[in-house]
Amino acid sequence: MRILITAGPTREFLDPVRFLSNRSTGRMGYALSEVAAQRGHDVTLVSGPVAIPAPEHVTLVNVISARDMLAAVLAHLAHADVLIMSAAVADWRPKIRSLTKLKKRDMNPIIELEPNPDILASVKALKGDKIIIGFAAETHDVDEEARAKLERKGLDMIVANDVTQPGAGFEVDTNIVTLIPRTGDVVKLPLQSKTEVAEKIIAWTEAYTA
Ligand code: CTP
Repeated sequence: MRILITAGPTREFLDPVRFLSNRSTGRMGYALSEVAAQRGHDVTLVSGPVAIPAPEHVTLVNVISARDMLAAVLAHLAHADVLIMSAAVADWRPKIRSLTKLKKRDMNPIIELEPNPDILASVKALKGDKIIIGFAAETHDVDEEARAKLERKGLDMIVANDVTQPGAGFEVDTNIVTLIPRTGDVVKLPLQSKTEVAEKIIAWTEAYTA
């Protein structure tokens, strides 16, 4: 299969030295890319700024902002059978991006934000028979919130995780997730490495298309 995977955070610049971002390290998306490539799939990885090396045999596309990521996803989606959106896309960006460093003396400390595009919502109309998988990082009512997101974003499956649990979510090598498919059985996985979680997600995808 041709699998398009997004990973990492996005950065939304305020001026040349400051940005808004989030805690994503990219490890989940990089693990997915590595596992998928090892299993013989053709992988394109669209990555926000991270500190880990690209897996072997993967086509890497580096992006910075949410709008860059949307453009890269749209550029590569036509050739993909599967899209896995594991990136932590910033929902907002500063309304004004200064080309010069904002100086304390003339900076307004109130930053006005405007919404970024929702990448999954933007590709919904292009889905056709592609498989689209999303992630849901939640802090409460995890399964209900994730299922609502699956419906709203028109996904085939959503990987839900409660980021408040130790060993799950951001900045750790492990995760605790529930795979919630549109149809079929919900799979609750115990704490395991992000590589093992990636193996379950890729195996689910292979079985779904078989
Ligand atoms: N996502 C996206 N574009 C965005 C924000 C999120 O495509 N601008 C994708 C993420 O990659 C993930 C899924 O949508 O696969 C859910 O992301 P999440 O941040 O949990 O959901 P939001 O839609 O941002 O909702 P909320 O933050 O209100 O929970």
